[in-house]
Amino acid sequence: MRHLLSPMDFTTEELDKLFDLANDIENNPAKYAHACDGRILATCFYEPSTRTRLSFESAMLRLGGQVLGFSDAGSSSASKGESVSDTIKVISGYADICAMRHPKEGAPMVAAEKSDIPVINAGDGGHQHPTQTLTDLLTIRSLTGTIGNFTIGLCGDLKFGRTVHSLIHALERYEGINFIFISPQELRVPDYITEELKANNIPYEEVTNLETVMPQLDFLYMTRVQRERFFNEEDYIRLKDFYILDTAKMELAKPEMLVLHPLPRVNEISVEVDKDPRAAYFKQAKYGVYVRMALILTLLELV
Ligand code: NCD
Repeated sequence: MRHLLSPMDFTTEELDKLFDLANDIENNPAKYAHACDGRILATCFYEPSTRTRLSFESAMLRLGGQVLGFSDAGSSSASKGESVSDTIKVISGYADICAMRHPKEGAPMVAAEKSDIPVINAGDGGHQHPTQTLTDLLTIRSLTGTIGNFTIGLCGDLKFGRTVHSLIHALERYEGINFIFISPQELRVPDYITEELKANNIPYEEVTNLETVMPQLDFLYMTRVQRERFFNEEDYIRLKDFYILDTAKMELAKPEMLVLHPLPRVNEISVEVDKDPRAAYFKQAKYGVYVRMALILTLLELV
């Protein structure tokens, strides 16, 4: 039995197979409409989410399966003090696969050890968000034909943003990736990540100014300042609008640069940018469903 706890749990060859499957699902949805008949997905969300939970649910429903679960810790037995290990033991008897989001780093790993069904990490604290990374990689591959040989700027909250941590980690395995980290000093990417890049001789730059690096980028990955992980509201208010991508800044970019964002967006991308053909974030959200469909089929060994 396999779980998905980190994007590194799949080799790049396995990821290619997963992305081929996701593209096939996108092009031939009817072929998969009953692939999960009689199967149940449990969504155990101890932390708020709209897109990740609903995209998992949509994925399972589009495969003909069914879903059950909870969307905040308060409405689960965690509020009575039940451990994640006990919860997953019980859920193993109710469902065939489980997607879990938790505010504590490592909680889905603990659950996977005790689980009789595949566990998917749907985001653990400020740590990892592997299915968002699969979504990001599928978007890059589908829109440009390949993953590799590009400069990507990651902008915003690089300290707390788990999507950023997962994506950097996953891209380290591809050829010719050049990272530019764009953040205020307080929200720099954690040292353990830059140390890993140094150890692997992967080029990166850290800057605070978005405009000056804009012309170099093939992808701009914007992120929200993660309010819920701040220790005080004053710091959040000071930093929340540090970067706002608008049409004037888009004029500095290459004509084929793509803008990605895991969403939800707050103020970091002006709504006027949505009309720009280089704004790929809503397409990206759609790819999130296809990739989760492919992942469910793969972990349930139905392909
Ligand atoms: C992200 C997350 O939960 O980390 N959202 C998502 O899953 N698409 C990004 C965020 O909340 O900023």
